[in-house]
Amino acid sequence: PNAPKRAPAYDPNRVFTNPLRIPEDATPEATPPADAPSPQGVATTWPPTSYRLSIRPMNVQMLPGAATPMVGFAGRFPGPTLRAERGIPTVVTQANDWTENVTIHNHGHKVSAESDGHPVDYIQPGRYKNYYYPNDQRAGTFWYHDHTMDLTGAHVYAGLAGFYIIHDKAEDVLNLPSGSYDVPLLLQDRTFGDNNELIYNGNPHGWGGPTPVINGTANPVLNVAARKYRLRLLNGCNARTLNLHFAVQGKPVPFQLIASDGGLLEAPVPMKAITVTPGERYDVVMDFTNFPVNTVMDLLNVDDPEIDPLLPAMMQFKVNRTEVDSATVPPKLSVIDRLQEKDAKAFGTVELGLSADGETWTLNGTTYDPARIDIRSKRDTVTIWTLKNATAFTHPFHKHLVQFTILDINGQPPPPELAGWKDTVGVPGNGTMRIIFKNEQFSGTYVLHCHRLEHEDHRMMIQESVEP
Ligand code: C2O
Ligand code: CU
Repeated sequence: PNAPKRAPAYDPNRVFTNPLRIPEDATPEATPPADAPSPQGVATTWPPTSYRLSIRPMNVQMLPGAATPMVGFAGRFPGPTLRAERGIPTVVTQANDWTENVTIHNHGHKVSAESDGHPVDYIQPGRYKNYYYPNDQRAGTFWYHDHTMDLTGAHVYAGLAGFYIIHDKAEDVLNLPSGSYDVPLLLQDRTFGDNNELIYNGNPHGWGGPTPVINGTANPVLNVAARKYRLRLLNGCNARTLNLHFAVQGKPVPFQLIASDGGLLEAPVPMKAITVTPGERYDVVMDFTNFPVNTVMDLLNVDDPEIDPLLPAMMQFKVNRTEVDSATVPPKLSVIDRLQEKDAKAFGTVELGLSADGETWTLNGTTYDPARIDIRSKRDTVTIWTLKNATAFTHPFHKHLVQFTILDINGQPPPPELAGWKDTVGVPGNGTMRIIFKNEQFSGTYVLHCHRLEHEDHRMMIQESVEP
């Protein structure tokens, strides 16, 4: 009954008119909460930067006409952007002023298990929790979102997602586009009902919709100056893989890829298109310099055949002024301290599968049980996991706690966009991928799962006990 209508094929004359919302930065509290958690064994600066967010129902103007009922952080969608400086910890107090259990995960962060937003570490209605984030990692684009067992898809779809951006000096000195020329884009898709309400169907296959919603703005346009912009692309769709490219009047415009999940690549990579699976982030620099005022550039999506209905276009950029541009994209961006295969002391396999009756997605032949430990690993040990996809579909595999790098995909070295630090990666159908990582600093129970949220909610998730 809730089957969404198929969107029309891409129409080159379509005009996006809603001004893109830029999520506001959260305002820090004057002092940390009296019961702020201790630094949990990490030597860091004190006091931390503190934020307090209330999780509560809200109405968001997304389409002309009625506002859309949602649930969000601080009454905003996306949630306020949390900014951190590497080495200065953050305490985020999440107050549950809603009627359902929640738990909040900071995606891509190296944190204690206690602050990781474990799926059953609930903040019950009326309660709050202080999450402690050391920010002891490279600058990059991260995001915080709900992670409640069986309900992550429903909760994220309802609005529980926001950006968490770490800055550091190594990145600051590069003079990349910054300030208002550094634009985070939370890319999502939604199905709206007749009264502009969100329609959600958590079927085990995955849910999306024909309407692009970027930073909470349906069918948006961003006015830009004729200069370089850093665009932080976050696939926040529940289930849709995005195959993105930019185009002016249908003609593709190349861009430079500068960062993946865990921060800057070694060098910028000129690209024409980028595939972003749910949960992944890629930062790109788009140069509008040579486009005359009034040029309209589309951000287009070549559709994911696994998700119905089609979503051919995401948003538009309109050049509305010229400006002097002093930002640069240096040929060398960062040093990636790769873990070496020869140093690996531990090995494991994670098999992405489908049950014999074809009804249930699995990891290592099982589904999630929060009371069971599926993998035991040693802390501070260089580890290689082989991800084996025994299904015909791409699944975005996500591991908590640390960033990894990819050794090979079907025996071949990863392409440049997959050669940097990652925490989420699309494992191709019937493919094999080896990843290398070192669980550092923290021990405890962390999950690994498919980031197609409806797969995750049908328990395509297992847990790892990191032991000292
Ligand atoms: Cu973004 Cu375990 O999730
Ligand atoms: Cu999956």
